[in-house]
Amino acid sequence: MIRRTKKRWEDQAQGHIGRREARTEFYKDSASRINLNGEWKFLYLEAPELSPEGFMNKGTETDWDMIDVPSVWQLRGYDRMHYTDVLYLFPINPPFVPSENPTGIYKKTVHINREWIQNDTILKFHGVDSAFDVWINGIHAGYSKVSRLPSEFDITAYIQEGENDITVRVYKWSDGTYLEDQDMWWLSGIYRDVELINEPKDGVFDCTADGDLDSSYKNGILRADITTKQEICDGTWKLERDGKAVTGGTFQTKEGKTHIKETIPGAELWTAETPNLYELTVSAGKHEVVVRVGFRKIEIKDNNFTVNNQVILLNGVNHHDFHPKEGRCVTQEQMKADILLMKQYNINALRCSHYPANGYLYDLCDEYGLYVIDEADLECHGFEWVERYDWITNDPSWKEAYVDRSVRMVKRDRNHPCIIMWSMGNESSFGCNFRSAAKAVKELDASRLLHYEGDYEAEVTDVYSTMYTRLKRLKEIGESDFKGNKPHVMCEYGHAMGNGPGGLKAYQEMYRKYKRLQGGFLWEWYDHGILTEEENETYYRYGGNYGDFPTNGNFCIDGLLMPDRTPSPAMLEYKQVIAPVEVTRIGAGREILVRNYYDFLTLGHVSLRWEIQTEEHIIQEGCISHMTALPHEAEKVTIPFLPFIAEANTDYYLNITVCQKQDTNFAKAGHEISKVQFPLDIRCDVLEERPKGEPLEVSETADILKVGNGSVMVTFHKIFGKLLSVAAEDQEYLSEGPVVSVYRATIDNDMYKKEDWLNKYFIQKSSEQTEYFTYETGADKVVVSIGKYFGCVNQSWGFECDYEYTIYSCGQVKVNLQGKAIQRGKLEPSFLPRIGVVMKGNQSLQKAVWYGLGPGENYSDSKAASTRRIYSSSVDEMGTSYVFPQENGHREEVKWFGIGDGNKSLLCKMEAPLGLNLANYTDESLEEAKHPFQIQRADHVEIHLDYLQSGLGSNSCGEEQMEEFKGKLQDFSMAFVLQVVDDGEIKKEAKKRYLD
Ligand code: GAL
Ligand code: MG
Repeated sequence: MIRRTKKRWEDQAQGHIGRREARTEFYKDSASRINLNGEWKFLYLEAPELSPEGFMNKGTETDWDMIDVPSVWQLRGYDRMHYTDVLYLFPINPPFVPSENPTGIYKKTVHINREWIQNDTILKFHGVDSAFDVWINGIHAGYSKVSRLPSEFDITAYIQEGENDITVRVYKWSDGTYLEDQDMWWLSGIYRDVELINEPKDGVFDCTADGDLDSSYKNGILRADITTKQEICDGTWKLERDGKAVTGGTFQTKEGKTHIKETIPGAELWTAETPNLYELTVSAGKHEVVVRVGFRKIEIKDNNFTVNNQVILLNGVNHHDFHPKEGRCVTQEQMKADILLMKQYNINALRCSHYPANGYLYDLCDEYGLYVIDEADLECHGFEWVERYDWITNDPSWKEAYVDRSVRMVKRDRNHPCIIMWSMGNESSFGCNFRSAAKAVKELDASRLLHYEGDYEAEVTDVYSTMYTRLKRLKEIGESDFKGNKPHVMCEYGHAMGNGPGGLKAYQEMYRKYKRLQGGFLWEWYDHGILTEEENETYYRYGGNYGDFPTNGNFCIDGLLMPDRTPSPAMLEYKQVIAPVEVTRIGAGREILVRNYYDFLTLGHVSLRWEIQTEEHIIQEGCISHMTALPHEAEKVTIPFLPFIAEANTDYYLNITVCQKQDTNFAKAGHEISKVQFPLDIRCDVLEERPKGEPLEVSETADILKVGNGSVMVTFHKIFGKLLSVAAEDQEYLSEGPVVSVYRATIDNDMYKKEDWLNKYFIQKSSEQTEYFTYETGADKVVVSIGKYFGCVNQSWGFECDYEYTIYSCGQVKVNLQGKAIQRGKLEPSFLPRIGVVMKGNQSLQKAVWYGLGPGENYSDSKAASTRRIYSSSVDEMGTSYVFPQENGHREEVKWFGIGDGNKSLLCKMEAPLGLNLANYTDESLEEAKHPFQIQRADHVEIHLDYLQSGLGSNSCGEEQMEEFKGKLQDFSMAFVLQVVDDGEIKKEAKKRYLD
């Protein structure tokens, strides 16, 4: 007995029925088209077998629903949402899939006129997930799969003049699903465009154009292969640049083919920095098509890969198709906005992770200039889980399926100059099927490099690709004598999950230092959060929020762009870290060194805007616009700022902004490429007497100590050894004084530390015990000294703390805290999230101002994009609302801050700069919340002053914080002065320095 018969969608050998050979997508095509997007009739079923009888015939759809195409049905109320990173949602039993196989039948009527009938009619689906059958007027016209590639069917024989019925039946699960296990939401349906193409019978079928270079790298070589629909066909071709003819000719095809080869002397070359494009127009019969050509040459030279004979560095990002309402359906406008943003953020490369993107994306990359790794729609990660990773990868019966996915991608996309590497897929182990795919790709196109990270030994690939490689290993790769080794790319690194990644600078330095390392691609562009609008709340869902299990939760919230397209702080950091122009200061004078990290452009296109900035104002500025450094070279520049007399107690900075001189197609003249700030060693300290107020009075009970006069009232708890309140004129400004804190609401990049931090070291469960409490009254001041022991539940490590509070008659309260690290057992965390104090400010103090790094949040290992000055904001706006709540809004190097109610402010001046967090919630409620709207608003302003806060790292997937950014248990000290001032006086008061 045959136990189980393969269904059509359970047969890896059944690649398609009636699908046309894959071919290029023309840039322009004179063939007329009917766009079939829009409303379709829709019938959702739990399995294909439940299809109503005669569903493929016209007229059966009377009571069906309507659905818009393109869309994914899970986001239109059918089936269910589910997110996994690695896991398949059903037993591994290839090529079989569940009998419960969600199915959507789509139906549309299209009117075809007499003129159309004279030509061929092609039905083109740009993307359907995961497999589908097509019927035209009740007749089966084809079957296809591979979700992220187009399928074309010649339906000429099935159509008639007048009304025509198109029925498409889409299967959620197919044998193809085993090859589509990428880390993303499981989504189904006709999710890319559908169109009808009316092709002249004597027209062009395909045109492959390659813009190569001769050995001088100056002259272009155009090679084109034209395929016509007729065996013998006369035609013409022309090459144009900006609408001006360059060359051209006529051709006649034999057996439907012809080849053109032509030299283009002095061609304008294509690179990501100079995206020069030519247009090749091919006419045959009544048909005219255009493909764009970029002249450039990709080679391996001395074990590096080169573009136009230049070793290049990839500063890339991994890109998925994503929209918070539409899942994987994206519009051209959105794709364009993505590409523009990337260019504006100095990104020069994009990896299509992990499937071919919508065709239009490559047009944009050609036009705006991005190097692309085009990746086949292939990942079978779930097999790793069962410890038989190469199960189908090494099974020859799956060969055609593997080859098909690469070959169809190459055939569709090979005219795009932006593509410099073909990737055969992602996370699918290695085996014979990749060897076959590699061979097939090379046969089709040897002009590009072959990539596949899963080929760990780089047996068939041209580049050695790794992901999330730690710096130590990366250095080894960089240092290995790479003659005989292949160039390295990091196809993924810097996991942008939640707050982070930090530590990007170290990677960039490594890439720049070692020639073998040719850069990498940050993971990833988007947070894949699904917009959810409920009665009172708007938020973004991630895995598990739909009751989906198993799931990888918020592992899909790992992008540089928030779901609403707000660039995250990490994106600003990345922009600065990879900036192609680097400015450093030479010595302490006016000289700077400007390094050109462009691979092709001289610095002629940038200008340097310089400023001398105080905490607040620009006092001198200028612009240098005669930069000349060649690619990979540097030039010295003297900034012509004039000597000036330093004002009292004022910091001075030299700010340098590298700007675009002229408009480009992605940004206007003046666009900032890079910005750096150098503190100047120019300062004039003027100390003054602290003013005197009314005499201070001390009153005391058994547990309370009050020190005050008409202008200030400071209250302490003697038993708890705590500052309880700072008030002025009956208004309380501080409702709880400093207590030590070593905890932050853990970030995603703390995920491997979190368990120990919270459940072994109990860092969130800390307390202070009073050791001594004394005070002393002096002239115009009272000094309260409190000794405390700080520790966490059941821990032997902690701090011996000496708090000294000096209350001056003028109303100022100086806090001096010395912490001595103690360990009387053995157990202690390898590092702490922070060492600092937390205080409670009055809830009414919502206006924030600070002098320190900003404007956005910054951390010790992520502050390249921040500069020092006085910034104003509100307590709420100082935070970053991550889709999954976690520590945020920190500012480093803060010299003072104020929080005010519009009338008075609490000013806090540091003796030495500290880290600052201001928030309207506690760390505990931040840790608890699963969505921003769940964060409990506190009845006070939470104020954190940090002696140190550990960096962000990228450990959710990648490198931990580097050692220097880990806050080890250590002695610490901090000092600051609290005072209540009129809002208008805050900056003036902040500047004052006092004698004692
Ligand atoms: C990689 C994988 C990506 C993504 C990432 C983690 O291993 O290639 O698809 O899963 O890890 O976010
Ligand atoms: Mg994966």
